[in-house]
Formats: sequence, C-alpha cells, structure tokens
Amino acid sequence: MQDILTHTADGVMTFTINRPDKKNSFTQAMYGAMADALEHASGDPAIRVTVIQGDITVFSAGNDISDFLQRKPSTQDSPVFKFLRGMATHPKPIIAAVCGPAVGIGTTLLFHCDLVYAGDNAAFSMPFVNLGLCPEAGSSLLVPQMMGYHRAAEALLLGEPFMAEAALEVGLVNRIVPPTEVNDIVQTLARKLAAKPIASLIETKRLMKKSQMPQVLAQIAEEAESFGRLLQEPAAKEAFTAFLEKRKPDFFQG
Ligand code: COA
Repeated sequence: MQDILTHTADGVMTFTINRPDKKNSFTQAMYGAMADALEHASGDPAIRVTVIQGDITVFSAGNDISDFLQRKPSTQDSPVFKFLRGMATHPKPIIAAVCGPAVGIGTTLLFHCDLVYAGDNAAFSMPFVNLGLCPEAGSSLLVPQMMGYHRAAEALLLGEPFMAEAALEVGLVNRIVPPTEVNDIVQTLARKLAAKPIASLIETKRLMKKSQMPQVLAQIAEEAESFGRLLQEPAAKEAFTAFLEKRKPDFFQG
C-alpha cells in the first residue's frame, strides 16, 4: 500500500495521505514523494492545481515519531525541508481538505496552502514545545501573523489544540463543512480553479506572496537549524520515547 496516493485528473493533482494505521503520520519517504511530485507539477502544464487530503477521521498526526528517532532530518537537503520549500514556493494553487486531527506539520503545511476547507471534526495542533522541539515550516512567523501574538503563544508555547471554528475565526480555514462532504467540495473548487487561465493564477499568487517570500524562506531555514539541534537534545529523545512507550514524558529527568 502506498502511503501517499497521487492521482491526476482534469488538471488537478490530488495527494491522499494514506497511512491510516499510523494516523497518517509522515515519513521521510512520504515527504520525498510529495516534494518530487510538487516539483514536477510546477513545470507540468497538465497540472494546474494541487489538492492535499487525508482520511475522514484524521488528516495527519504530523511527523512519524519513530522516523524522527531513526532518520533525523539534519540537513536542509532532507526530504522534509525539500517538501516545505516546495510548498512555500509552489507557483500554482494548492487546496487542502482537512478532517480530524492535523498535528504538527499537519497544521503548519496548511499555512502554505491557498485555500483550506475543514470538516467540523478538524482539530489543529502544533505541539512542538511538548516534544522538546520548535516550530517549523515558517510557522513561528506565519502563526503570529495570522492569529496575533497571544493566540499564537497559546498554540505554539502551550501547544494547545484548536478546533475548526477557531481556525475559521483566525482565517486558517476558509469554510467548515460536514466531514463526509469536504473532499467533494474541494475537488469541485479545484476543478473550478483549474478551468481559469493558468498564467493569471500563477501571476496573482506570485504577486500576493512575493513581498514575504524571502522572509518565509529564511524563517524555514533558521527553524530547520534550531529544530535539527533540538532533535539531538535529551528533551526530544525523552518525548519521543515516552510517546512510543505510551507514557507521559518526564522533562525533569530528560
Ligand atoms: N508517529 C508515529 N506513530 C504515530 C504517530 C506519529 N506521529 N501518531 C500516531 N501514531 C501511531 C501510534 O503510535 C499508534 O500506533 P500503534 O497502533 O502501533 O500503537 C497508532 O498510530 C494509533 O495512534 P493513537 O495515538 O492510538 O490514536 P488516537 O486516535 O488515540 O490519537 C492522535 C490520534 C493523532 C491524536 C495521536 O496519535 C497523536 O497525538 N499522535 C502524535 C502526534 C504528534 O505528536 N506528532 C508529532 C508532531 S511534530
């Protein structure tokens, strides 16, 4: 079974995150597959819009925690950072359909989507601090910008989850719909976008993003350095081991 299913039809490339037994958590191989497909989509005139969807019960539990322990993404060339840069710089529209938990990168990748539709069961969280880590994907810049500093601190320092309604209120989500309908709604919108003049779509997205792009890429790179360093520290090791051993972490020992 493939962990990322890729399907292209009517100018729309759809990624389905398909690792249900591990709650759709991402391995480096999955980031690599998506990074390569996005790069290809940038230059392929047959692909005009990309959709990212998960399962009706879970969008993604974030990075695979065992993978973190075994294959630490220590360089900027790691598949995860290639994927993040690919998302941040992708020239064509990207739409996400989110149901259930969207943890860590499951939430932060949404900041690089152009449109986000959520099932009413969507729950967003960025618990990096609880894992001894720090934000990634430019989220330390983009979350405060979108939500305001204090709400960002709740999400990023306390690691508090927030539900679809709160995500709608801060502007992370465009619309909340029944979970059974979100994928169909997103496919309809993706086809609507794909039917528009592609050069206008690309130019409009470029103009909206250009002033902040250098800052976003610099933030992704700086976060990656810090994230790589923190991954080696005892607190992260304790958090991952505790998760896999299904116990609470003890950071006073770690
Ligand atoms: N990495 C690796 N395995 C993961 C995972 C992750 N990020 N998230 C879940 N899994 C695995 C669990 O270990 C479990 O595996 P097992 O059946 O072999 O024991 C299986 O997926 C089911 O997870 P479980 O926690 O029992 O499901 P749940 O429905 O109770 O909770 C979540 C779902 C997403 C809320 C919960 O799994 C979770 O919080 N995951 C970790 C999220 C996280 O911290 N991610 C890293 C962010 S940087």
